[in-house]
Amino acid sequence: MPDFPSTKPAETLTPEEAEAELTWLAAEILRHDELYHGGDQPEISDAAYDALRRRNLAIEQVHPELIRETSPSRRVGFVALDKFEKVTHSIPMLSLSNAFSDEDVADFWESVMRFLKLDERPALSAEPKIDGLSLSLRYENGKLVSAATRGDGTVGENVTENARTIADIPYVLDGEDVPEIVEVRGEVYMTKQAFAALNAKLEADGKPLYVNPRNTAAGSLRQLDSAITAQRPLRFFAYAWGEMSAVPRATQMEMVALLGQWGFKTNPLMRRFSELRALLDHYHAIEEERAALPYDIDGVVYKVDDLALQGRLGMRSNSPRWATAHKFPAEKAWTILKQIEIQIGRTGALTPVARLEPVTVGGVVVTNATLHNEDYIRGIGNDGQPVRDGKDLRAGDTVMIQRAGDVIPQVLDVDLEKRPADAVAFTFPTRCPACGSHAVREENRTTGKIDAVRRCTGGLICPAQAVERLKHFVGRNAFDIEGLGDKQVDAFYQDGLIANAADIFTLGERDRRSLKRLKDREGWGETSAAKLFEAIDARRAIALHRFVFGLGIRHVGEQTAKDLARAYGTVEAFSEAMEKLAGGDEAVRADLLAIDGIGGTVAFALEEFFAEPRNVEVYRALLSEIRPQPAEQAASDTPVAGKTVVFTGSLEKMTRDEAKAMAERLGAKVSGSVSAKTDLLVAGPGAGSKLKKAQELGIETLDEDGWFALVGQMGQMR
Ligand code: IVH
Repeated sequence: MPDFPSTKPAETLTPEEAEAELTWLAAEILRHDELYHGGDQPEISDAAYDALRRRNLAIEQVHPELIRETSPSRRVGFVALDKFEKVTHSIPMLSLSNAFSDEDVADFWESVMRFLKLDERPALSAEPKIDGLSLSLRYENGKLVSAATRGDGTVGENVTENARTIADIPYVLDGEDVPEIVEVRGEVYMTKQAFAALNAKLEADGKPLYVNPRNTAAGSLRQLDSAITAQRPLRFFAYAWGEMSAVPRATQMEMVALLGQWGFKTNPLMRRFSELRALLDHYHAIEEERAALPYDIDGVVYKVDDLALQGRLGMRSNSPRWATAHKFPAEKAWTILKQIEIQIGRTGALTPVARLEPVTVGGVVVTNATLHNEDYIRGIGNDGQPVRDGKDLRAGDTVMIQRAGDVIPQVLDVDLEKRPADAVAFTFPTRCPACGSHAVREENRTTGKIDAVRRCTGGLICPAQAVERLKHFVGRNAFDIEGLGDKQVDAFYQDGLIANAADIFTLGERDRRSLKRLKDREGWGETSAAKLFEAIDARRAIALHRFVFGLGIRHVGEQTAKDLARAYGTVEAFSEAMEKLAGGDEAVRADLLAIDGIGGTVAFALEEFFAEPRNVEVYRALLSEIRPQPAEQAASDTPVAGKTVVFTGSLEKMTRDEAKAMAERLGAKVSGSVSAKTDLLVAGPGAGSKLKKAQELGIETLDEDGWFALVGQMGQMR
């Protein structure tokens, strides 16, 4: 009997050797599983067991034809799931801000210095930005307990079973200084080679092909049947972390090295720089090497190396201040602009879209590009300056398309020499193509400038706007109703089943009484209909900010909705305020404007929305069906949560921005002026009138040391 597991690299095994070893591994792993689960004393350590499973996966990756039905890699999931559980990340998974030029990078570095009041550049790490999908792996006492996708950054999907089939992901962390709780974050990806091989196989089987390695990796990781994931050669690079019961090293570079020691793959192109020229040289060197790398990358990520500085820098709502992604220039291609079409958005904006002769740009087939607005088609940019040297765009033109990452492709240039003789300049409609109402360019109330966007004035009578509002309402960041996507919304609206958001919640009840039941419709059945009604019911209790965002009020994006939800707390308080606002109540208006992040434009948009009786009618009908839940306070378990804090005087241990960010992170509201509502004043040297006023009002005052004593370690949290 040969000695197994063999020490030969998996790639060098002959098919016969591979088969023999896989047979042995299957039996051996099963034996250990039985010992473990049967409650007997395990014979080998977790790490040794881990090694066996990895060896099994490694051989199967090289010889997928030898994967047996009963392979340990196929047994992981046992049964296919019917959907993934949701997991709330203990620390959100952020995105990165972008830099597109050398100047942007210089600006980024300087903004870091300014924020921290440093005279010298703090060192940055630089590493490739892997074009895959991020994954958060949680280990407790060194053992992998869960794996979650990024999702919307706050809530992801539990893909633990699938992650266990990825050979680069250790089941057990081995090595020094492994804290009790470890969340390792990194990128799941597929090599270019594995992608090509998989597509070749799909093509041979007459199956649809994947477009690029990233989509393939995403599709593979999100398989409900982990046996399928196991057959897809996914890889993983570790580059960051989430919750940690202790952070055992002081710099990014050292932490990543430690992740490597614990058994993760880390990127070999990571370096540290303190000088701009050298940093940019590294960027360009990686760019040169890009095509030759075995995996896709789309830029270089820079991170402040010193973790204490990272902590002080903290984050913006969606991205850390201590990192940025320096993107590679977008890829370009020439194609024919077949037609210019007008789409109508939720708020009535008429957006021109270019329908293109399909063309492959950077590995992805592009058929549409955005044309922004009518000026852009005429060759005029937002700033009034010419774009494309002032050349207009016409149907039939040969145009240059640019695609950068996931952003909608753009039309960069047009070749006038190839313009057909009969091409005519595009006439932008002045009436809404959907409802025939006038489409106008409004004057901005504050700047007095004419808006670049032409809008349909049909408002509530415009069917196109109504459908877009519904799509927004059920969208991922609003009500996120499973089984109710754009296609279903279109169909239900067409057939008169839903005309507004409130109708969604009466759909089930009406269906029960109807003769033409949903289950009898084309494309539906008993189960899918029942599931949809269940999914709708599941959203009757909804987070307040999702409700506010879902209303689709102009200028009220996700962050603004969160700000409003946090400020008003309950739907009752919000409704009352909005009713008063619509009635012209100045005090309510002032309260609104006092909310951080809310300005005149938003206030006016809210007023306009709630002054429209038809909106209020739908709003009330909706509230009779659903129960928006009180907003969670940012942090409720800190000494300053819910308090209004004012910083004054010169601060010595932190900059003003830093102080504000820290206080907000701890659930406090930061205000610029002292009033009866102020709970706490933090005064540095040179404090004057604000300190005096606070003392007169009997408000608690602290100096900077007092502030740190109060918030303690919490202030330094990442
Ligand atoms: S750091 C808090 N490093 O890029 C920042 N991200 O645009 C955590 N990504 O969601 C991310 N390579 O999926 C970081 N070397 C790298 C990366 C990387 C790819 C992805 C990641 C993230 C996205 C942000």
